[in-house]
Parts: sequence; C-alpha cells; structure tokens
Amino acid sequence: MKYITILLFYICSTIQLCLSREIDTALLSNEQVDENKSTDEKPDFPFTTVIDILSSNVQFSTFLRLVQRSGNINHLNDLQNFTLFAPVNSAFVGYDENINISAFDINDYIFHNYMVHTEDLINTTRIISEGVKYPYVIGQSWDSMTKTRFKINRIPIVEPDLTPNFQNATVHGILNNLKEPLSLSDVITDENYQLHDQLDLTFENLKRLIGKIPESDKLIDYNTVIIPSDDSFERHLNSVELKYLLDSYNNLDRMQRPVRQKWINHMESMYRNLIYKGIHGGSIIKSEILTNLNNDSISFGSNKQGTRHSSNITTDSLVSNEIFNSGVAHFYEDMAILTKDIAFDAENYLHGLNCSGFVSEMYFRNIESMIQNRDDTDEKMTIFVPESNQNDGMGFTKSTLLYHFMNEQVWLEEDFPVLSRGESFTKIFNSSFCSSVKKLGNNCQRVKITKRGDGYWINDKLKITLSKPYIVGNKLIYTFSGDLTTPGDLILSVPPFSHCSKSISFLRQLNLLELIPNHEGYTVLLPCFNSWGSISLTMDLVERDLSLMEEVMKNYILNGLYYTDMDDVSLDTTNILGNKVQLKTTDDQNDSKNIELELNTMFDNITLVKTDDIFFNQGVLQPFQMMDLPKSVNISIKQLIEVTDSSEIITFLNKFEDLSHKLFHRSPESDLYSILIPTYSSLIFEDININSTTLEKFLKLHIIKGNETAGLINCTGDIKTDLGQTLECRKVSDTESFLKIKGGSDNEVRILKKGCSTTRNKDINQRACVFLIDRPLSLSWTNRYNYHFSFPLMAIATGAVIGVLFVMSLFCCMVVLKVGKDPSHRHGESNDEEQARDEHDPRRPLLSVSSNNVRSYTNQHRMIRTPNGLNGAVTGSNENSSNTSVIPKRSSKSASQAYSTNSTATPINVSPRN
Ligand SMILES: *[C@@H]1O[C@H](CO)[C@@H](O)[C@H](O)[C@H]1NC(C)=O
Ligand SMILES: *[C@@H]1O[C@H](CO)[C@@H](O)[C@H](O)[C@H]1NC(C)=O
Ligand SMILES: *[C@@H]1O[C@H](CO)[C@@H](O)[C@H](O)[C@H]1NC(C)=O
Ligand SMILES: *[C@@H]1O[C@H](CO)[C@@H](O)[C@H](O)[C@H]1NC(C)=O
Ligand SMILES: *[C@@H]1O[C@H](CO)[C@@H](O)[C@H](O)[C@H]1NC(C)=O
Ligand SMILES: *[C@@H]1O[C@H](CO)[C@@H](O)[C@H](O)[C@H]1NC(C)=O
Ligand SMILES: *[C@@H]1O[C@H](CO)[C@@H](O)[C@H](O)[C@H]1NC(C)=O
Repeated sequence: MKYITILLFYICSTIQLCLSREIDTALLSNEQVDENKSTDEKPDFPFTTVIDILSSNVQFSTFLRLVQRSGNINHLNDLQNFTLFAPVNSAFVGYDENINISAFDINDYIFHNYMVHTEDLINTTRIISEGVKYPYVIGQSWDSMTKTRFKINRIPIVEPDLTPNFQNATVHGILNNLKEPLSLSDVITDENYQLHDQLDLTFENLKRLIGKIPESDKLIDYNTVIIPSDDSFERHLNSVELKYLLDSYNNLDRMQRPVRQKWINHMESMYRNLIYKGIHGGSIIKSEILTNLNNDSISFGSNKQGTRHSSNITTDSLVSNEIFNSGVAHFYEDMAILTKDIAFDAENYLHGLNCSGFVSEMYFRNIESMIQNRDDTDEKMTIFVPESNQNDGMGFTKSTLLYHFMNEQVWLEEDFPVLSRGESFTKIFNSSFCSSVKKLGNNCQRVKITKRGDGYWINDKLKITLSKPYIVGNKLIYTFSGDLTTPGDLILSVPPFSHCSKSISFLRQLNLLELIPNHEGYTVLLPCFNSWGSISLTMDLVERDLSLMEEVMKNYILNGLYYTDMDDVSLDTTNILGNKVQLKTTDDQNDSKNIELELNTMFDNITLVKTDDIFFNQGVLQPFQMMDLPKSVNISIKQLIEVTDSSEIITFLNKFEDLSHKLFHRSPESDLYSILIPTYSSLIFEDININSTTLEKFLKLHIIKGNETAGLINCTGDIKTDLGQTLECRKVSDTESFLKIKGGSDNEVRILKKGCSTTRNKDINQRACVFLIDRPLSLSWTNRYNYHFSFPLMAIATGAVIGVLFVMSLFCCMVVLKVGKDPSHRHGESNDEEQARDEHDPRRPLLSVSSNNVRSYTNQHRMIRTPNGLNGAVTGSNENSSNTSVIPKRSSKSASQAYSTNSTATPINVSPRN
C-alpha cells in the first residue's frame, strides 16, 4: 500500500510539475495583463468585488463555477473582513462535473475576520486558528518550482494579494486545493519518514503511545503538541519502563480494568506533559509562557521567521508548525520534562518485564498493594518473578504468590561471596509467605538462594536469569526460569539422592508424613545418607517393632522451627512424644560447613550441614547421618541377637554365667561388651553346638570389650577379643569390611550387619554392639603354623628349589639344542621322537627355540597335524615351501607365551610369594 501511495505521489507531482510550467507561462502573461489591468483597467471598473476578481481571471474559472453551482455567489458578496484562498484551475485536474456539489463548502477557502496581505508575511510565519475550521500555517516559504515566496499549509500562493476595492477582503490564488490536515498520528508518520532519512531520528514511540490512549484527540484539540524523538524516550526511560508504557508485549490491552486503567492513566499523564494549551507557533516576537495539561510552564520562543522554536526545556525544534486537524505540533530531538512527575512502581516494572500475568494474579488475590507504592511508602523488597513462558496460564495461589517476595533487599552480586571453582554458597531468606499460621505459626516460609559456578539458583531448582536486579525504588526484581512453588508435603520435599528413603518409609508406616498442625511448625531431624544401612541390624529390629520405630522417629520430630542459619540457638521445645527437648548450637567459627546440634535427648551431637535445610509445608527437614539412637530408645544386646537367625548363641552364652553377665547385664558400673554373631547356617556348617568342647573359648573369641567396639564400627586399628586374640579389620568399601585374626591364618570373615544397643555406662567410649558375620572365626585360625606359604621361610625354600630346577632344565635344553645342530641327527630318531610330541603332549619342550634346525621339527609337526595328509605330505617334504615364512613368528614368543595353552602343566611362578 505504502509503495502504491508513494508511486501515486510521484505521478501526481510530475503532473503538477508539468502543469505548473503551464501556469508559469500563464502567470507571466497574466502578470503582464495584470500590469496592464492595474494601470489601465482598474480605473475603468472602480468597484470590484471578490467575484469580479474570480471572474476576471481565467485561472479561477473552475473554482468560480463551483462557487456558482453551490450557490455561494451572494454569500461571498455579502461577506466582509475575510481572505479567500482560491485554487487555480490546475488544482481541479480530473475534477468531475458530476461530483456531489454538496461536499463543497466555501468556508473551507475563507479566513473570516482576517485579511491576509503577503506584505505582512515577509520573513514571518503565522498560524491561523481563529475563525477557521482547522488551523492554517501561512508564511514566507520559497517554492522553487513555482518561484513563489509564500505558502499556506505548504501550498504555494501563486496569485497573491488580489484585492477588490468594493469589499474588505483579499483573494490569493493557490496552486492546490486546501485539504483538511491529517491527524496527529499521520503527521508524525509522515514526519518520521522524512526525518528518519535526514537526521536518523525516529518518532515511533509517541505515535504508539498516542495510539493506545483512548480519546487522545480530545486532549490535543486546539492545543500545541511537542513531539520528542524516540531518543528522548530512551534518554528518560529505561527499557523496562518503555516496554511497559508502550505495552511492548501486548499484554496490558487485554488486562482487567483496574490494571489497564492504571496503565492508561500513566500514559495519559505522560502525554499531558507534551501538550500545551492553545495553538502556538509561527513567529513569536517575545517568548511566551506556555502551560501544559499538567500545569507546568515553559517559556517558548521562535526565530524571526517562525520556522524554529525553542524553549527552556528543549533545544531548537527539528521541524516546526506541523499542522494537524486540531492543532499544531513541533518536533524535537529531546524534551526535558517528558517524564516529569511520572513515577514507576514494581507493578509497572513487572509489566515491562512481560510478567503481566503475575500482576494480574496479584490483583486477583487482592495483594496488588505489595507491588505498588501506596501513600509514598516504598518498602524494601525483593521480588522474584518467573520469566513469562508459553504456559503461564498457570494460576498462582495466594501463598505461592507471596512466596515470590522477600521483605528485604537481596543483592545477589554483593551479598554472596566470590567463590572458587566448584564451590557453592547458599543463603536462606524469609519469604513474604508468612500467613500459614496453622502450619508454621507466624513464621515465614523460607527460600534458599544458592550461588554456584553457573549462576544463582532458587531452592536449588530455578535458575535466576540475571544476577543484576531491576531496581525500582526500594524494590529489586529478579527473573528466573521455571515455576516457583511453595514447599510442598514432606515426602515431596525430600531430595531423591539423599538416601532418606528408609526414614521416609518409617514415617509413612507411622502415619507421620502429614503432621497435625501445631501452629508453630516442625523441625524433623531425618536420618539420611544411608544411616539405617550402616546399622542394618538395628534397622531390622526397628522394622519389626512398630512401637520401637515410633519411639525412634517421634524423638526426631520437634515442635518449632530450627534452621541452620540461626546463630547460637538455645531452644526449649518438645518432641512429638511430648518429651522436653533442649536444642543448643554454638557457632564454630572454624567450621564453616557443619553445625553441631546438641540435643539433651541424644547421647551424641547431631552434625548438620549448614544450609542443607529442606523446607516443607509444615516446617523444615534437617537431614543428618544418624550415629546412634535417641536416649529414650531401649535396645538391648539380647534383642539384637534375637533379630539375627542365630539366637541360639544366647543359649550358648547362658551356659557360661560370666559371659552372659558381661553381655546382658544392665549395670552402669560394669563394662560393656560387643559380640560377633555368625550366621545360623555357618554355625551348623562349622558344627558348633552347645556340646562343643571349645564352646567357651569359641564364644570368647567372638566377644569384644566395649571400648574396642569403636574400632570395629569404624574398621580401624586393632581390636582385642575377650580371648586375647587381636582382630584386624579390612575395609573394602563403605558397606563391606572383613575381619581376620592378626598373625593367624589368612581366612577372613565378612561383617554382614551391625547394630548397637542403647545401653551406656559411665565410660562414653564403651559401646555394646552386635556384628553379624558370614562365618564364625575358627579357633584353629589362631595357629599360623598350620598353613603352607604363609610362612616366609617356607616360601624362600620353595623358591630355591624351583630356581635350581629351572637352571637345570635350562641346561638340559641347551644340551639338546647342541645335539640338534648335528645334521646327522635331523632325520631318523628326532623325527620319531618329535612326531609323538603333538600339542597335547605334556612332554612338549618348555621353550620353542629360534634356530633354523627347529624348522624341520616344526614342519614335521605341521605335516602330521594336517588332516588331509596329501597336501601336507607334499609341502612337508619341501623345505623351501612358502609356509616357512610363518615359522619364525613362533620363535619370537616369550617363554611363557610359548607354553601351550592346552598343556596340562602350568608355568611355575618363580617370583617369591609373600
Ligand atoms: C471588519 O474588521 C474591522 C476591524 O478588524 C472592524 O472594525 C469591522 O467592524 C469589521 N466589519 C465587519 C462587517 O465585520
Ligand atoms: C527578510 O530577511 C532577509 C534576509 O534575512 C533580509 O535581507 C530582509 O531585509 C528581511 N526583510 C524584512 C522586511 O525584514
Ligand atoms: C475594512 O477594514 C478596515 C480595517 O481592516 C476598516 O477600517 C474598514 O472600515 C473596513 N471597511 C468596511 C467596508 O467594512
Ligand atoms: C521554564 O520557564 C518557565 C517560565 O519561566 C518556568 O516556570 C519553568 O520552571 C522553566 N522550566 C525549566 C525546566 O527551567
Ligand atoms: C556437642 O557440640 C558442642 C558444641 O556445640 C560441644 O561443646 C560438645 O562437646 C559436643 N558434644 C559431643 C558429645 O560431641
Ligand atoms: C548335647 O548333649 C546332650 C546330652 O549329652 C544331648 O541330649 C543333646 O542332644 C546334645 N546336643 C547336640 C546339639 O548335640
Ligand atoms: C580398653 O580398655 C583396656 C583396659 O580396660 C585397655 O587395656 C585398652 O587399651 C582399651 N582399648 C582402647 C582401644 O582404648
């Protein structure tokens, strides 16, 4: 369309150009006529009217005909004090006689009560806005095509100052028809087109803005508009503000009324800064004070010609006196008060960030005041908003929305330390979601922000787009990708790789996954990191005994909230068994990673990793590596033995009163003992029963003193048995360790499971535990002499014997080879002998020898091996056969390689055994 318009424009102008040449010549002749007229004719006709002028000049014939047809002759004759702009005939090229004459309005060509004389227009420009349908700009403006000096609304005045003497009026012949000026938007579009080429400036923004303000025409009616360039918008507004105002994402247009209205008011208020009351332009002799629709004043002036306007808030105009249908516009590069009194709040910024959906939800939940500056208070706040994505139709609950806010400023780049490679740093913040009174009391649900090598993350899941916030007043805005939801149920919050599943399954069995609202929240100390796996015997017991399970797990669930970022906590609370719990931490400055939790219900401290807190909808989970069970839990050695299948051991022990006392007493004064329990099947296999003669010794070999137990649990150091032997523990992996008797046989037993009783005595180093092993330690293993090769002397002796044998066989071989070199030996006996030595013969020589005389042997050997003997026999006798090339390969092999794989003997390892 645009191109067609341009094309038409060119065609028109070319036609005009041609016509104007005609006019030029016509004018020239006319002027001559005029001169004649003025000198000769005027005296002849002393009383001329406007009509007389029109009829006496053939250039106006079309116009005059229109005046006649529309019945305006008398009207014109009756008028006084006016200026008539009469288009010359060329303006009506293509004019159709049949055109609807009613569309012709003579008033379109008349300035009432104003007589224009071009002598008053020299070096000036005037804007006529009184007594006219729409404003006119008229003034000196050289037109090279028509060689005329004055223009009205850009149309050259080709026949100026025709003055009747019987009527107070002036007539000006103009080159073209006067048309109603364009709307402001179209004027801007036109000018944008021109100025973009000339000055590389665009004026799109204001045009877009005007387009979005409903009834913007009313604002500019008979007013003056200052049009700033896009550069000016960019100078006074940042990209977010601009995107908001211009609704770059096309969201606001569709918003619910209050949201949209706020935006429209914002735009309008900005537009009002640009609109000055009244029509001002043209030559302004003494600078005027103009007032805009927001009642700000400026002093406004022009150059002498009235073609450039300046003010104390602008530089010189780029283009002035642009008439539109109800006012005048001046174009500027910049306008200083473009954004005067325009304030932005978080809501506006969210729109500018394409998060209108989020804003809309805020309105829907009636919490929009959070993102607005009410009563000039601008609370410090950080807002995390999801980058809008395709599926942002997702509704937010009120709590989810609130969870996106923090009532403090979080400066990611400043508040987090510089990290070295591979490090991460987490901070925990209070979100603004604090209204879950039933579940969390008056506590706010918390949010984690983690800095890692690859950026910043919310709750370890959602990547924050930029580490620099958008700042609006006291509020900081960050965007992230994904959906941020409030922490959910306990079970959904536990990260899958923390190995907490056993504890979770216990909680499920106890119906503790959903806790009764306690109006203060819960801290759940959760045995994770495979805690149960390392005490699987205890676990077996706990699994079988629901009340035991309850006792354990309920001990770990505390009323009230403890987060690892709390300093020096001393909390008096209860667990859900109703027992009083004192929780204490002291911040260890040396340990930046861990935190020691001291609970009066536990023997040992619980070590938590700082900021490893897991939030859930009823509080916080603190995963930890469980070292022992709570104090109130009672698990005896006997119970642990009973849970193994070898409970017979108890009968064995009871046979010896001192042993059973050692293990089963409950006196805090006496020492504690641990015991190794072989599996039932291995007991049977080893034929250990109540009638065994060495039963007591056997049992004592499996009993360990309490202060040695730690060594066995950790698999470190020497462990003394009750019998006096020392056990050595070998750790293969976290779950696998082996025991053997130190200085005894190489036989090892594997520790399958372990579990400890909760019995304690005064010595905190003593523990009584049960270790299930895959087979019993045998008393016989303590005798090291029973075994070959375990003794170094024996190994040395064996080595020596083998060495001697080896040297001797080497010597034999050399002798054989020496004999083989004699040609007389080649056929006959050697053949017979070696034919017998096929591959399966263990008597085959240990070493193949790389000398030519062996070839014959090998060839012979091959011949025999060839199944269809014909071919083999032929080649076999032929020593020069190509097959010989294969043979040297064999000779390059090492001794052990050459040793046949099918041989029944294996090479003797000559390296000494340890
Ligand atoms: C014409 O204008 C003059 C001065 O501007 C005024 O005095 C006069 O009354 C006007 N005449 C008519 C008919 O309006
Ligand atoms: C108009 O301006 C021109 C050039 O600036 C000057 O020469 C001329 O004298 C001016 N005429 C009037 C009437 O001011
Ligand atoms: C014409 O206008 C002039 C002033 O503009 C005024 O003095 C004069 O009286 C007017 N004449 C008529 C006939 O209205
Ligand atoms: C511009 O001038 C007007 C009138 O003198 C004044 O009220 C206004 O404060 C000035 N504006 C600036 C930005 O200087
Ligand atoms: C527990 O930690 C505290 C420091 O918080 C320490 O003073 C105390 O000795 C620790 N207790 C045990 C049993 O390790
Ligand atoms: C042990 O000996 C008693 C009697 O001497 C016998 O009754 C019992 O069966 C024996 N037990 C085993 C397991 O051999
Ligand atoms: C355990 O206590 C005994 C004495 O009762 C002592 O000889 C032994 O060295 C202790 N063992 C450890 C590992 O401390």
